[in-house]
Amino acid sequence: MKTAIIYSSKHGTTEKVAGIIRDGLSGQDVQLISLKNHQNPDLSQFDTIVVGGSIHEGRLSGKVKDFMKEHTVTLLQKRLALYMCGSNEKELQKEFETEFPELLRNHAISKQMVGGEFIFENMNFIDAWITKKIAKVSASVSNLKEDAIKQMITDLRN
Ligand SMILES: Cc1cc2nc3c(=O)[nH]c(=O)nc-3n(C[C@H](O)[C@H](O)[C@H](O)COP(=O)(O)O)c2cc1C
Repeated sequence: MKTAIIYSSKHGTTEKVAGIIRDGLSGQDVQLISLKNHQNPDLSQFDTIVVGGSIHEGRLSGKVKDFMKEHTVTLLQKRLALYMCGSNEKELQKEFETEFPELLRNHAISKQMVGGEFIFENMNFIDAWITKKIAKVSASVSNLKEDAIKQMITDLRN
């Protein structure tokens, strides 16, 4: 069984979660693929695909959306899991349903909204400004949902 965790991350959190999932699947053959470096990964060698993305200003990363659109048919033939990073607790479910295609959501064996982080060291001036003004957060903070990440690992191990 070979697994690919395919993600895009703006400030590092979606990538961090990809690493936690890989570590949780110890003993299995798991490859991390960033869509920043690999726009069109070869999926043929993988049985399981995990797709991860984050929400910024109400939208999922365009790279992740493009990837899911381009590879819908292939993803429907794989064991699929989806996770989303986002910090707007009240909107997470809605954001997930709007931004991940229904076909893939229905097919996925695990769907997790894993929370988010604000990492000021990795933000540009504009993102830092928006975070302070809109989220009213002024220092780096992590609100990852360990339970949701553990649930995904359990679902993938089954
Ligand atoms: C400029 C900015 C806008 C954001 N907008 C949203 C949003 O609309 N909804 C949400 O749930 N989270 C929002 N977030 C929180 C991010 O989803 C969260 O920081 C996430 O961990 C980012 O993951 P990444 O570093 O992998 O891109 C925003 C964060 C920033 C910095």
